[in-house]
Amino acid sequence: MSIIYLEQVNSTNTYIKENKLNNGDIVYTFNQTNGRGRLGRTWYGENALALSLLHIPKETSNLPVVSIIFGTAVCVSLKEITSLDLKIKWPNDIVIDGKKLCGVLVEAVTDNDGVCLICGVGINISNKDFPEDIKDKATSLKLLGIDNINIEQLIKAISVKFNKFLENGYKVPESFNDLCITLKKEILVINNGKQIKGIAKAINEQGGLIVKTTDKNLITVTSGEVSVRGILGYI
Ligand code: BTN
Repeated sequence: MSIIYLEQVNSTNTYIKENKLNNGDIVYTFNQTNGRGRLGRTWYGENALALSLLHIPKETSNLPVVSIIFGTAVCVSLKEITSLDLKIKWPNDIVIDGKKLCGVLVEAVTDNDGVCLICGVGINISNKDFPEDIKDKATSLKLLGIDNINIEQLIKAISVKFNKFLENGYKVPESFNDLCITLKKEILVINNGKQIKGIAKAINEQGGLIVKTTDKNLITVTSGEVSVRGILGYI
């Protein structure tokens, strides 16, 4: 496993797509110029760590759950190192006190060699403020009183935790259910501008969210398609 530091890059996920790396390799930078977020959004990456890990699966069943596994590995690692009371907003935003600290984007790439997964995370490190449109829902380690995080230690912890979870196969880690603040909440599922209100009931084996809608239907939503938020705001 190699850890590659880049002075600047458009997107660490794109860098992995365009370079031949090995399973478990990690690329990181503090200067990502064109970060991508979930659902085609742009990721604001100033004063942030951008990190991507290449995962080459041995089997192809249940790969969507890798985004839950990776998010949980980042959350557990950051919790251990900072002692912050971090939680996960389904599927994999890492949040605290109603604000987002990290975003996760896992992308699958298929070529002649098969499928590989690029697991990316952006962690807000030293921001003292944020652009107007996200300032009420974003936070950073600095704003949370953590000034001197050891990045090498964090990167190694993420890699170790991720591999540990994978020893159980492609399954939702047990700790995810304790960390996930979306469960049992009244939420809005937003899909192509349409909103459905319901209660988040459970996570299925693929990492999908099972929601009981206000008209008493059970629906399952998957992370690639929808965004979910609390009925009163981001969380
Ligand atoms: C989101 O919350 O929408 C996901 C944000 C993911 C951002 C990370 S930063 C490292 C990696 N490279 C990218 O271009 N995106 C991910």
